[in-house]
Amino acid sequence: MEITLTGITTTGAPHLGNYVGAIQPAIAASRRTDVQSFYFLADYHALIKCQDPALVHRSRLEVAATWLALGLDVNNVIFYAQTDIPEILELTWLLTCMTAKGLMNRAHAYKAAVAENLADPDKDPDKAVTMGLFCYPILMAADILMFKAHKIPVGRDQTQHLEMARDIAARFNYLYGEHFVLPEAVVDEKNAVLIGLDGRKMSKSYGNTIPLFEPEKSLRKLIMRIKTNSLPPEAPKDPETCTLFQIYRAFATAEESAAIQLRYAQGIGWGEMKQILFERLNAELSEPRQRYYELLEQPDHIEQILKKGAARAREYSVPFLQELRRAVGIRPLTL
Ligand code: TRP
Repeated sequence: MEITLTGITTTGAPHLGNYVGAIQPAIAASRRTDVQSFYFLADYHALIKCQDPALVHRSRLEVAATWLALGLDVNNVIFYAQTDIPEILELTWLLTCMTAKGLMNRAHAYKAAVAENLADPDKDPDKAVTMGLFCYPILMAADILMFKAHKIPVGRDQTQHLEMARDIAARFNYLYGEHFVLPEAVVDEKNAVLIGLDGRKMSKSYGNTIPLFEPEKSLRKLIMRIKTNSLPPEAPKDPETCTLFQIYRAFATAEESAAIQLRYAQGIGWGEMKQILFERLNAELSEPRQRYYELLEQPDHIEQILKKGAARAREYSVPFLQELRRAVGIRPLTL
């Protein structure tokens, strides 16, 4: 059976951009019975970016509650926290020992950090670069290779990590025999990048996001703040370059979107369009929002789901790690 796997870094509560780009398609895929899906909270990865324990703790709860509130089918997918699978870390070490440092030197995230430091002559090139950041692709390779995943749905920014995972897997297989499946990135081009409040890509690092489960009142306020041009209500408008329409389309049916496109052609006031967008979003989100806030009050219930998922995941990881230890020569002295 084909195996798909993806991780969600647990830093901060998800926003509309995460929902449209990653969460919504993944939840739809979680209902497929012809593939085995693994979805996990990448909480070891979160420690690389976030050293605030309260935030790390809170984000794990929020991200898990988000996925559950939106209807992730946890009987069908294996849903777990990475930190509940200790075998991942041991595999990370086995892989670290045969990964070329030069390969990691080429990672975009690391190179970007160094380039930023080099722009300032007073800074050390590796300022604020931790070994966690530098070795990030190896941990990610371990996540994937552990479960012999074939297909990895990710954003375009992650494709280099997938190439690295393949390189690392191929090197291990060459040295120790065919143990790993070479994974492939699946980048879904139609899951558009959402535009944020200020007209740039919606991203936590720009501070221009609309949190997915923003309470109704402030959701409305945020939508009213979205930047538009200054055309008068009666002027025909281009939906393709309009943030309001981009967000609307991500939530509406094809027919609803076509009807709104017509309104743009005829001229629609921004105030009215913002109200339409708010109502559409709110209709879509109010039920899961309520479930989300209920789930936040039941951390024990969420913990149980994650522990069950981890037990299922470890049915794969425990025996596979034994196999890998033997392959590298770590086995009882009597054998
Ligand atoms: N690095 C990914 C991101 O930031 C998250 C992630 C960690 C991941 N491990 C993974 C994604 C394994 C896919 C497979 O989006």
